[in-house]
Amino acid sequence: MRVFAISDIHVDYDVNMRWVHGLSSADYRDDLLILAGDVTHRPRLLAECIGAFAHRFAQVLFVPGNHDLWVLGESPEKHSLHKFREVADIARDCGASMAPYVRERTAIVPLLGWYDYSFGEPTDELLQMWADFRACRWPGNDGPAEIAGMFARMNVDPPGGEPRRTITFSHFLPRIDLVPLYVPRKHRALDPVLGSVRIEEQLRRFAPEIHVYGHSHINRSVRIGGVRYVNNAFGYPQESAIAAKRLLCIDEI
Ligand SMILES: [Fe+2]
Repeated sequence: MRVFAISDIHVDYDVNMRWVHGLSSADYRDDLLILAGDVTHRPRLLAECIGAFAHRFAQVLFVPGNHDLWVLGESPEKHSLHKFREVADIARDCGASMAPYVRERTAIVPLLGWYDYSFGEPTDELLQMWADFRACRWPGNDGPAEIAGMFARMNVDPPGGEPRRTITFSHFLPRIDLVPLYVPRKHRALDPVLGSVRIEEQLRRFAPEIHVYGHSHINRSVRIGGVRYVNNAFGYPQESAIAAKRLLCIDEI
């Protein structure tokens, strides 16, 4: 079974959805896909996209990204935790799993998360321009630290018993040094909303060989402290310079 990874498929863009539907229905029947968040905030398109992947792959593993939890345009009493549950139900009903997957001696473990400003404090400009601050609503007006803590507590602990080789995956970045040095200084204002050191703390407890992440849209594979960190975001249509726009095989189990 080959293990493929992709994230940030953003199928609100027709060209991205067409790419999904254009994937072979024969080539991946024995394979697994890690889908690391940011499919769409539209439930109908989420179901269509996950269903299309589940039709092609033997197994699809999923974590939501920030875009998936937007409640923009939905009823005022609906908050992003409601949306999280709705997204989880759609994923399950359409054939994807948000639970750890074990095959032979390999475990693949999803890690939920959110950004919590552990990568830096947001500027006033970031607070104005970052869409999540308008498009997500949280119960009790929880701030990012509470949201990140809530998702961290939903994650499983490493199992006891026989050691396994492990692959972990998250939507958000577990470490800020995954942002390449060539990224211009003006874009580094986004650092506070890219991820959280909590995710790094949680993934290290699994001692994974590979960690897949999304969110930055900057494709990368880099080894740090014994872990290979891989980003294979599909990204927005115009992002052809930073996103290869292909399925990436990261392992075979
Ligand atoms: Fe994204």
